[in-house]
Amino acid sequence: MITLKPQKLKVLFATSEAHPLIKTGGLADVAGALPIALQQLECDVRVILPAYGDILAKYPAITALTEIYLSGIPGKVTLYATHLGESNIEVLLVEHYSAFSRNGNPYLSQNGEAWPDNAERFALFNKIIRLVALDQAQLDWKPDIIHCNDWQTALVPALLKLVPDAPPCLFTIHNLAYQGLFPQNAFNSIGLPTELWSPYMLEFYGQLSFIKGGLVFADRINTVSPQYAKEIQTPEMGCGLEGLLKHRRNVLSGIVNGIDDTVWNPETDQLIEQRFTNKTFAQKKINKSALQRLYGLPDKADVFMLGFVGRLVEQKGVDLIIEFLKTIKNRPVQFCLLGSGDNTLQDMLKKLAEENPAQIGVNIGYDEAIAHQIEAGSDAFLMPSRFEPCGLNQLYSLRYGTIPIVHNVGGLADTVVNATDKTIADNTATGFVFGEPTVKAFNQAIIRAQNAYRNTPIWLKLVKTGMNADLSWRSSGQKYLKLYQEILEESYDRALIYRP
Ligand code: ADP
Ligand code: GLC
Repeated sequence: MITLKPQKLKVLFATSEAHPLIKTGGLADVAGALPIALQQLECDVRVILPAYGDILAKYPAITALTEIYLSGIPGKVTLYATHLGESNIEVLLVEHYSAFSRNGNPYLSQNGEAWPDNAERFALFNKIIRLVALDQAQLDWKPDIIHCNDWQTALVPALLKLVPDAPPCLFTIHNLAYQGLFPQNAFNSIGLPTELWSPYMLEFYGQLSFIKGGLVFADRINTVSPQYAKEIQTPEMGCGLEGLLKHRRNVLSGIVNGIDDTVWNPETDQLIEQRFTNKTFAQKKINKSALQRLYGLPDKADVFMLGFVGRLVEQKGVDLIIEFLKTIKNRPVQFCLLGSGDNTLQDMLKKLAEENPAQIGVNIGYDEAIAHQIEAGSDAFLMPSRFEPCGLNQLYSLRYGTIPIVHNVGGLADTVVNATDKTIADNTATGFVFGEPTVKAFNQAIIRAQNAYRNTPIWLKLVKTGMNADLSWRSSGQKYLKLYQEILEESYDRALIYRP
C-alpha cells in the first residue's frame, strides 16, 4: 500500500525585524524563534524581511534570487536569501537602494524621528510580500498562509483581499500603540487601490492607517497574550481601535510568546560570567558580583540587586522606576539599567546615577551581552509597564532565577504568578504583581519582594518554580499551528460555498 506523506503547511512569515539579523525589540525575538518552532512542527516556513543596510553589511555573502520591477517605483527590487541564525530556515531579504539600503535603526533616523519616507518604504515591502504570497516573484513556492506581524506588514491582508484565490492571512498585533499612521496624501503617493480609502478600511480619522489593513482584512487576528487581547477591546488600551477590535472579537485571540532556549538559557549562556542551573543556583552570585563590577557598584553579596533592560519609553513605566530610585538612599538596594529611548528619561536616569553612584548604575545604549548579564546577575527584575502586550524580559528573568516585579497588565499578568501565602504554599508563586501603576503600589511590591529575599527558603521556592516553568516556544508554536489550520479550513469552506 502506498502511504502519501502529508504536504507540509507552507507559511510565509512577514516581519520587519528578526533576531539575529536585526533587532529593536521583542518582535525580533519572536520572529527569530517562532519560525523555528513551526519548522519543528513540520511546517515549511520562510521569513520575509527588508534588507536593511546593517544586515547586508553583516552578512555580505548572501545569494541574490531574483529581481523585481514594480510599477511606479524607480529602480529594481532584489530578493536575496539567507538563513535564520543557525537554522536552515530561508529568510527572503527585500533589497531596494533607496528604501532599505541606509544604515541605522529600521524605523528611526539618527535624530530619533521616524524616517520621513516610512510609508513608501513599508508599502514597497508589503507589495513585494504580496507578490511572494501569490507566487509571482519567480520563487516557485506558493505559501498556504501568510503570517503578518505589526503595522509594517499590515497592508498585505488588504492587498490580498482584492485578489481571488489569494492565501489567507493571520495578523499578529505585537503592540497596538504603533499603528503606521500617515497623512492622507501618502495613501495616494504609494498607489493603493482607491476603494481601500474608507473609515471601514484603511482610513483612520483622515489619516492612512497601515495597521487597519491587518485588523480589518486578516482572516484571524491574534495578539501576544490572552489578557492583552481583552484589554485592547477597551477604550483605555484600545488606542482608538477598540470598536473595530470588539467588532472582530470572534476572530481575535491571544497566544503568549515563548523564549528561545538556545539564546536565553543560564545553563549554556556564553555571554555571562558563570553558567548555572536551578541545582547550582548558588553560583548565580558570581554573576551578581560581575554585574556590580561592570556597573562600578560596591561588590556586596547581600544587597538586593534590581535590574531593568528595555526601551526607555512611557509604555515601560520608566517614570515609576525613576520615582522609586529617588527613595533608595541608604536602603540595602542596588539597581542596574540598560536601555535607550526618550531623551528626557535618559537624562533623568543619568542624573540619578551621578547623584547616587554607589547604588545606581545606568547604561544608555543597546547591548545584547549586557542584557544577558543583567538577567543573570540581578536578584529581581523591574517591569512596571503601563501596558505590555506580552513582554519577554519577565520570561527571561523567570528562566534566570531573577524574580520579576511586574504591573498586572497584558502578558505580565498572564505569565507571572503573584506571591501570596496561598501561591507560596502551593508552589505556584513566581513573582510580585502590583495592581495600580502608582509609585506607592510599585514601592510596596518591591518591599514585599525584598522581604521575601531575606527569607531564603521562600525566595528559593519562587526561583525554583520560575526556573522550572515551561516557557519554550513548543506549546505556543502548537497554538499558532492550530490557528493556521483553522484559518485554512475556513478558507476551504468559503471556497466551496462560493464555487459549488
Ligand atoms: P518590547 O518589544 O516592547 O521592546 P519585550 O520585552 O517584548 O519588549 O522585548 C524587548 C527585547 O529587546 C528583549 O529581548 C530585551 O532584552 C531587548 N532589549 C531592549 N532594550 C535593549 C537594550 N538596550 N540592549 C539590549 N537588549 C535590549
Ligand atoms: C512588542 C510588545 C512586547 C512584546 C513584543 C513581542 O514590542 O511591546 O510586549 O513582547 O512585541 O511580541
